[in-house]
Amino acid sequence: MSRHFIFTYLLPVTLGGFIALAGYLYYQTTVLQADLAAMTEQRDIAEEEVRVLNETIDNIQGELAILSEDYEELRDDYREERNKNEDFEDRIDNLAGTLGNLNKLAKTDKELLQKYSKVYFLNENYAPERIDKIDDEWILEGKDEQYFHREALPFLEDLLEDAERDDIELKVVSGYRSFDEQADLKGQFTQVYGSGANAFSADQGYSEHQLGTTVDLTTEEVGGAYESFANTEAYEWLLDNAHKHGFVLSYPEGNDYYIFEPWHWRFVGEDLARDLHRDDMGFYDMDQREIDEYLISIFD
Ligand code: DAL
Ligand code: ZN
Repeated sequence: MSRHFIFTYLLPVTLGGFIALAGYLYYQTTVLQADLAAMTEQRDIAEEEVRVLNETIDNIQGELAILSEDYEELRDDYREERNKNEDFEDRIDNLAGTLGNLNKLAKTDKELLQKYSKVYFLNENYAPERIDKIDDEWILEGKDEQYFHREALPFLEDLLEDAERDDIELKVVSGYRSFDEQADLKGQFTQVYGSGANAFSADQGYSEHQLGTTVDLTTEEVGGAYESFANTEAYEWLLDNAHKHGFVLSYPEGNDYYIFEPWHWRFVGEDLARDLHRDDMGFYDMDQREIDEYLISIFD
């Protein structure tokens, strides 16, 4: 190859090629750098947006935490208020119950569960609030009409009907007796028996019959308030069942006040009669303060 050819053609062409290549490479580099700069800028923007978003999330989380705290406080306050209201309602209910009981107690005759015998005295002016006639079908043949405390009468009727269902025919000898009636009766007994009458007949003012809640029971066969009533099925039935209707035997064998009076039954309410029967205890054996607790439910 001649020098002429080299310097005239080959070298310029080669150099030109290099220059063109260098130019091209330079151009490409510039383009790439520009792209890179643009991408870097976009990345920075994206990073800034992410930072702002993170900040926003942090703020929202902070607000949520505060809201959550507020919510818990409110919920606790609400619960506290609700409990206070419930306590208040309970207190109102209790108060209403107490008032109801006091009202009920105020309307219940306190004499009805007092012990009346030789040592306990009933005022001569005392009379039950209301007495009703005992139906003639229950009265012993030949006896006058008899009366009973109005609110206790349904319990007596239930007892008599219950006995009848068990083929036990009970008859009433005597129900309510006023102070004056008791005085007359005691006078008649005293004429016949002298002071011996004190063993089976109370003086006026001392008789449970004045309360209107006491009844003397017998059978047609026995025919009156006699001790032989104790040998009847009817008496056995009463021992087993009278308490279910609120009646108790006031003067059992060996009592401190009178002779054994199997005929003489007093209404004291189902709760007290049930408990006395359960504990095999007499009405006069229980402390008066304990008896008084049953007064509120005497006609329940
Ligand atoms: N037989 C009783 C004691 C009364 O007279 O009340
Ligand atoms: Zn009697």
